[in-house]
Amino acid sequence: MSKVPTLAEIDVQNRRVLLRVDFNVPMEDGRITDDNRIVAALPTLRHLREKGCRIVVCSHLGRPSGVDPALSLVPAAARLAELLNDDVLFAHDIVGDDVEAMTKEMVPGGVMMLENLRFHPGEKGGDEDFAKALARLGSVFVNDAFGSMHRAETSIAAVVDHVEVACVGFLVGKELDALGRCLQGAARPYVGILGGAKVSDKIAVIESLLNRVDALIIGGAMAYTVLKAKGQDVGKSRVEVDKLALAARLLERCAEKNVVLHLPIDHVVNTSLDATAAPELVTAFGPDQMGLDIGPETVRAYADVIGAAQTIFWNGPMGVFEKDAYAAGTRGVAEAVAANKGYTVIGGGDSAAAAAKFGLADKFTHVSTGGGASLEFIEGKDLPGVKAIRNKGR
Ligand code: 3PG
Repeated sequence: MSKVPTLAEIDVQNRRVLLRVDFNVPMEDGRITDDNRIVAALPTLRHLREKGCRIVVCSHLGRPSGVDPALSLVPAAARLAELLNDDVLFAHDIVGDDVEAMTKEMVPGGVMMLENLRFHPGEKGGDEDFAKALARLGSVFVNDAFGSMHRAETSIAAVVDHVEVACVGFLVGKELDALGRCLQGAARPYVGILGGAKVSDKIAVIESLLNRVDALIIGGAMAYTVLKAKGQDVGKSRVEVDKLALAARLLERCAEKNVVLHLPIDHVVNTSLDATAAPELVTAFGPDQMGLDIGPETVRAYADVIGAAQTIFWNGPMGVFEKDAYAAGTRGVAEAVAANKGYTVIGGGDSAAAAAKFGLADKFTHVSTGGGASLEFIEGKDLPGVKAIRNKGR
């Protein structure tokens, strides 16, 4: 696969730049609760400003069907202005003559943010007219929206055909390098840690990791489907009944590939997620018990495997970490990975949120800003955003 052009290789001096970022940040009552994705775009923004570019920043937020004031990017633009310590203009129209005129009146180093791209019907599915209209807002297109690189939306893929020059930004470059090390050339032992609710969400990533890792650690509700497939009683834990055959096949594939599979040996349980009774610790499930976190013996066993690894890729929590009663397993695994001095990569989404919640976010080699995107990359897929720019660069 040929290399994708990066911002460091492109002469952007004094150009008008359309910069796609992923400011799809969590919000509560119009307030940003985690600005990590905005902070992560700053190196690219600062570089473009130093080069005297006029920068038109665009992003989506949430999944609106049409215009939804609750999903306006105005708060993100305000946060960006604070971080840059400068004004950020805001274009409510997204595309059109007025916005185009605004881009031409900007001062060198000036920043303008467009309203939520998904307010426009053309953002879905590669609409050519919308792609052309976006491309009129900059002659250089820089894609630094790693979290959205797996979406073949107009501002990620189709727009690339209509600009003069296209490249990926510094964040995307860093993500591709870090996650790329988990695909090729990883130092051994290499341990994959997967958690989360469903085996079905992770099956492609497991398949890919089976060709690369020495050991696979499984936690979260997906572990109960695998334990059930092994013939273990899991009480009333969440099980994907229609995926039991797939889980059984997975067990066989681990054996075929000589990958050591580590499954929970004790469990924090309750009668339901909302039960008010104190959770119990068990090694065998009662009929009314539901597994909600891995137990301390499991954490110890997993920490031993993690401690001996040279490379770790972790995606997905070990339990319902959002609730303090079921957070110890995810915390224990996060602390063990944080203590590892090898190459440690956290796939985005819930595991990145967990790392942040436990105050460990800066203790890993890399914490991805993309949940779905990092998983699809590790699955070995050519992400549409990367592919579009690579093909143009040929
Ligand atoms: C994400 O948060 O994973 C990205 O911003 C993509 O958002 P989407 O899943 O709504 O396309």
